[in-house]
Amino acid sequence: MTNFLQQPSGANAFVPDPARPASLLRVCPAYKTTPLLETAHPSGGTLFLKDETQRMNLGSFKALGGVYAVAQLISMEWKKHHGEELNPVDFGSEKVKAFASRLTFVCASAGNHGLAVAVGARIFGANARIHLAREMPDAFERRLQEQKANVARTSQTYDQSVAEALRDTETTGDILLADGSWPGYTVPPSFVMEGYTIIAEEMRQEFQAKKQWPTHVYLQAGVGGLAAAITYMIRKNWVKQPEIIIIEPDAAPCLMESSKAGRPVTVEGPVSNMGRLDCKAPSILAFDLLERSNVNYLTISDEEALEAVAILAEKGISTTPSGAAGLAGQMKSLPNDQQNGYSPLIIVSEGAL
Ligand SMILES: Cc1ncc(COP(=O)(O)O)c(C=O)c1O
Repeated sequence: MTNFLQQPSGANAFVPDPARPASLLRVCPAYKTTPLLETAHPSGGTLFLKDETQRMNLGSFKALGGVYAVAQLISMEWKKHHGEELNPVDFGSEKVKAFASRLTFVCASAGNHGLAVAVGARIFGANARIHLAREMPDAFERRLQEQKANVARTSQTYDQSVAEALRDTETTGDILLADGSWPGYTVPPSFVMEGYTIIAEEMRQEFQAKKQWPTHVYLQAGVGGLAAAITYMIRKNWVKQPEIIIIEPDAAPCLMESSKAGRPVTVEGPVSNMGRLDCKAPSILAFDLLERSNVNYLTISDEEALEAVAILAEKGISTTPSGAAGLAGQMKSLPNDQQNGYSPLIIVSEGAL
């Protein structure tokens, strides 16, 4: 296996410091470890399920990324103006809130990322403007407004709203906080991904305590930020190395096709029922990391995702096709994967609204 930690770091290298989100979360009242559930697998091994449906009362793992990235960007601005680092315990203070009130964070959202940015901005005293495609439900717009975010309904589709958010910040000078990354734009999305490293560290600690490790990890991907952050942590410090399989909708296999091409490519395809994973272009940070990390790729259909949603519902976990995609990928794995002791790990990445 390639040891990616020994590879030279290029401009697109994702090199997180997992201690940073950990130190901020220590002072966050909404933070607690999410459950790692286990059931027996027919192979004689164990199916591990990381349940992110209740994460920080926001309903998805994305809370760890957007909220933390807002804090990091406020910290960077603070350092620029005051020449010193901000201590995480100062985040709730009036002086930091007064400083942050001059900052506005802008992003596009297919759901969870925009909510996380809106919540982060509200908590830390800053402002948020979220670009929503017209196809997004009004109920979601109201959820953002409840978090005091401004909502811009400027475009028809999610991809157009990403471009619109970029255009917005180019004219207003406000801060673009996207979860995707592209040439020349990597710092804010690397903070978003750094926040997700917490999920892997929570799991590592539990596996270490149980002295039991998964043999296969199935990670669903949109732009690839979640999958890359978890993969980074697994390859960095899990004592038993699993196979890692990246799961994408067959309507949007942007990471798989980029891997085949050896460079980031944009794919075309119909609309998927896995809305959060329906990204036609990969994050270059995620692509670069996954390319160096010995992972495999698998696509799933809308029907397979729905089947996984139904299976999770029977287990009492209410999720969406995007949330259940890791399980759908696991169920689709080749039979010769299901050898004795096969112990897969999946992440249920969001709850149903
Ligand atoms: C519920 C859910 N699962 C998975 C993903 C995929 O994450 P990424 O786009 O970082 O690959 C997202 C992204 O928004 C999501 O909201």
